[in-house]
Amino acid sequence: LGEPFDSLLLPAAVRGALWRTLQEIAESYSESVDSLSVAPVLDPARLRGFVRSFSFAKPLDPDQVFREIASRLIENQVHTASSGYFGLFNPASSTMSIFADALTAALNPQLAAWSHSPLAAEIEQHLVTSMGAKFGYAECDGTLATGGSEANQTALLTALVRRWPEVIESGLRGIGHDPVLYVSAEGHDSFRKVARLCGLGDRSVRRVNIGADLRMDLSHLLHLSREDRAAGREPFLVVGTAGTTAAGIIDPLQELAALTEGENLWFHVDAAWGGAAVLVPELRKLLVGIERADSITFDPHKWLSVAMGAGMFLTRDTTTMGRIFSLRASYMPKEGDVFPVIDPFTHSIQWSRRFSGLKLFLTLAVAGWDGYATVLRRQVEMGRALRAGLLEDGWRVENDTALPVVCFSDPAHASDMPAHQSIVNQVLAEGRSWISTVVLGSTKQPAIRACITNVKTGEENLRVLRNSLRIARSEQSQSTLVLPNVT
Ligand SMILES: Cc1ncc(COP(=O)(O)O)c(C=O)c1O
Repeated sequence: LGEPFDSLLLPAAVRGALWRTLQEIAESYSESVDSLSVAPVLDPARLRGFVRSFSFAKPLDPDQVFREIASRLIENQVHTASSGYFGLFNPASSTMSIFADALTAALNPQLAAWSHSPLAAEIEQHLVTSMGAKFGYAECDGTLATGGSEANQTALLTALVRRWPEVIESGLRGIGHDPVLYVSAEGHDSFRKVARLCGLGDRSVRRVNIGADLRMDLSHLLHLSREDRAAGREPFLVVGTAGTTAAGIIDPLQELAALTEGENLWFHVDAAWGGAAVLVPELRKLLVGIERADSITFDPHKWLSVAMGAGMFLTRDTTTMGRIFSLRASYMPKEGDVFPVIDPFTHSIQWSRRFSGLKLFLTLAVAGWDGYATVLRRQVEMGRALRAGLLEDGWRVENDTALPVVCFSDPAHASDMPAHQSIVNQVLAEGRSWISTVVLGSTKQPAIRACITNVKTGEENLRVLRNSLRIARSEQSQSTLVLPNVT
């Protein structure tokens, strides 16, 4: 290594070799992932031993260390890229999103000041407007975010400031009220986290009961908000979920829109996963009412299969985000001031921000809206086929949704979580499918959850999963047979 910076930038020949290695690894992973065991063997002591062997005392060969870490990563992760992954909302990355992320890292556009990366800023603005239009917003404001949690935090802040503008100057102590927000018992727990981050705390998050269909019970919502008002608290925000994490349930959005309009409450829809349904013409009706929401969380890194780190916050309100996030700072570039443009840092929790929009933009440019609709439609069909197959196999399906996530239980062990967990453990140990357990609704029903997360998941994957479940269930029944006492 000749120059002092060579240890960071590396000479051209070394970089060339690394790109080839990356290509070889990424391609071979993509071709072979379906044949790998979907879940790794967990052994923290072994992993820590390996990681701590890196003392950073001596420089290592770039190609060697890169290969070593890539192969250990492949050995030690759940393969969300596998068509046997019926998992959480973590997709296989679309190819264009992988290239977009590599390009983003190479060019490192800075999404704070518009003038530093004007094209990147305009691309993200275009995505905000285009996705907003898909949800039914004629005009909207918004931002790319790291994911659903940041988007939900942006929603909470926007709702809070819209209601109490003085929060900007004086914080919560300036408002002299006890603000409360409402989210269903099946809504995402990020709302508790963001309530803590915004200084509201857990007590400000009221969990609304759900009905037997796992949707928010509107009469309980009304009851809670009246009770809170009577106790001197101030309801300000209602969160509807379009595609709950556990069971893919869509809250009654139309009714929530009407209720929140009547009560002067901010209506946010957490459509982090299920929002993708607006891209499929025949599924659009499932989300009717979302166009009346004041704001929406939508995560391209979930059902739109872009690589991790791409959330979105959208709002019909075109002034409040600017009020919350706009600051003047003498060190910020001013070249953009003469144009009618938005500096991204004035509309986002983050200041310097990664160009996370590129992976959605390039995937969309190549697939088009129709390409997405075709893929999503097929996933919905696979979800339907899985649901029908599980019913045929004698499982009880616990969730009623058109979205491709199926929650099911074994009628022989209806309320027995350890029995369901043991079935799941056995399926995981077999390594061909990944599923998980959840607890649903007010009855705390244990269930097994299988979501069509991967775009490649097809009939053969369903057959393998059903077969593994059948075997695991029959072995579970054998092991729980009560044997007579032999004396
Ligand atoms: C409905 C919903 N909202 C929000 C989130 C949080 O998103 P993220 O993990 O991207 O922060 C999730 C995550 O699964 C989710 O399912």
